[in-house]
Amino acid sequence: MAEQSRRRRSSSWLMSCWGGGGGTGGATGTADESSSDSERRVSDSDPKSLEEDLSLTLQAGSELVAFTISELKAATRNFAMANLLGSGGFGPVYKGFVDERIRPGIRPQQVAVKSLDLGGHQGHREWLAEVVYLGQLRHPHLVKLIGYCCEDEHRMLVYEYMARGSLEDQLFKRLLAWLPWSTRLKIAVGAAKGLAFLHEADKPVIYRDFKASNILLDEDYTVKLSDFGLAKDGPQGDKTHVTTRVMGTYGYAAPEYILTGHLNAKSDVYSFGVVLLELFAGQRCVDKNRPGRQKNLVDWARPYLTNAEKLRRVMDPNLDGLYSIKGAQRVAGVAYKCLSHTPKARPSMKTVVETLEPLLSLNDVPVGSFVYVATKEKTCEEEDQSKEKKKKKKKTICEIEEKNHNNHDERHRQQFPNSVIHSEVALHKDGNNLFRNSHFRRLKSHSQERGA
Ligand SMILES: Nc1ncnc2c1ncn2[C@@H]1O[C@H](COP(=O)(O)OP(=O)(O)OP(=O)(O)O)[C@@H](O)[C@H]1O
Ligand SMILES: [Mg+2]
Repeated sequence: MAEQSRRRRSSSWLMSCWGGGGGTGGATGTADESSSDSERRVSDSDPKSLEEDLSLTLQAGSELVAFTISELKAATRNFAMANLLGSGGFGPVYKGFVDERIRPGIRPQQVAVKSLDLGGHQGHREWLAEVVYLGQLRHPHLVKLIGYCCEDEHRMLVYEYMARGSLEDQLFKRLLAWLPWSTRLKIAVGAAKGLAFLHEADKPVIYRDFKASNILLDEDYTVKLSDFGLAKDGPQGDKTHVTTRVMGTYGYAAPEYILTGHLNAKSDVYSFGVVLLELFAGQRCVDKNRPGRQKNLVDWARPYLTNAEKLRRVMDPNLDGLYSIKGAQRVAGVAYKCLSHTPKARPSMKTVVETLEPLLSLNDVPVGSFVYVATKEKTCEEEDQSKEKKKKKKKTICEIEEKNHNNHDERHRQQFPNSVIHSEVALHKDGNNLFRNSHFRRLKSHSQERGA
C-alpha cells in the first residue's frame, strides 16, 4: 500500500516535472568546433527513455531527497552571492548547508546547489540525465548526488560539497601554491578509477564530458567526477559504438567522434589523455594566447611524450623538477597511447589504472628543501651565543641545500646528458627565511626552451 502510494507520488511528480518542460529542453545546438572554444553542449539522450529510467531510479528506492525551493533558499541564504562557488553551462553553483531545521531526518552537511539558468544553453534533459545517472551510480570517485529540486520552472541539483572545487580551479586558477607531483598523480589515478568504473559497469556508461572542470576534489584531493548531463549508455551486444550528435567540450573531445559522431568508451580515454597532459604541463588544452603550435596542447606536446629528453619541455616548470623522472616517463607513455588517433590503439581505462596506480609508490621524487626558523625573545647574552650558533648553522644549512640540489641536478644531467639547462641553487636571505630562487630562473630558461 505504502509502496503503491510512493510509486503514484513518484509518477505524478515525474509527469509534473516532465510536463514542466524546463524551458530550453536542452536542444540548443551541437558543440561547434569552429565557432569557439566556448563550452556549448546539449544532451541528445532520448527523453522517453530518460523518463523511464528516472521512474525506475525512484522506484528502486533511490535515496535522493526531493527538496523544495524554499528549503534550498534556506540552505544557501537565499542564493547569496557570497555563497557562489562558480558557474558553468548549466547555471550557477552555490555553497549551502542542510540540517534538521531544513529537512527533518537529514544528516547535517555542507552541500553544493547547482541551479539551472533558465536563459542558458542547457535544460531539463541535462538535469534529468544527471538525476538518472547519479541517482543510480554510487562509487568513491563519483560525486554524490544528495537530492534535487523540481518545482515550477526550477531545476536544481544538490551535491555533496567538494572543498577544493574543480581540478580546473586547482590547476589553472591558483596563484600561489602549485599542485605537487604526488597530488597530480593521485588525481590522475582517482579520475581513471572513476572512468574505469563507468566503463566496466554491467550497463557501461560513456561519460562524454571528461575535462578538468568536471573533476571535483575534496579536502585531501580525492577525485569525484561530476556532471553526467551528457553521459550516454554504452553500445549494447556486438555493437562497437553508438552514433550521436557531436557534443562535448572543444579540446577534450576525441577526433574520430568529432568527425563521425561514433562514440564509444575509447572517446572518454582520449579525453582522459588530454587531462593527463594538462596535469603534466600545468596548461589548458586550448589557449589562443599561446604562440603558434602551442595553442593546442595535444598537437604541440604529443610528439615529445615518447622522448625522455624532450619530455622536460612539456613538464610544468612550476613542478621545479620535483617529480619522479621514471614516473613522469610512464605517465607520458600512458598519455601518448590515450591520445592515439586510432581508438583501438588506446588502452582501456582498466589498463590505465593498472599502469598509473603503482607509480604512486615510486619513491624517487626529490624532496623540495625549505627552512623554517622560529624566533623567540632573547636576553643579550643569549643573543650573542645564538649569533655564533646561527653562523655555524647557516653554513650547515647551505651545505645541505647545495648537496640536495646538486644531487637533483646530477640526476638531471644523467637523464638528459645533452641538455644545457640545469638549474642552480641560490639562497636568498630575507629576514630569517631562506628561499631557493632556482624556480624563477627556471621559468625563464624553461620558456626559452619551450619556444623551440
Ligand atoms: N559539488 C561541488 N562542490 C564544490 N564546488 C562545486 C561543486 N560542483 C561544482 N562546483 C564549483 O562550481 C563550478 C562550476 O561547475 P559546473 O559543473 O556548473 O561548471 P563547469 O564544469 O565549469 O562547466 P560545464 O558546464 O561545462 O560543466 C566548478 O568549477 C566548481 O568550482
Ligand atoms: Mg562541470
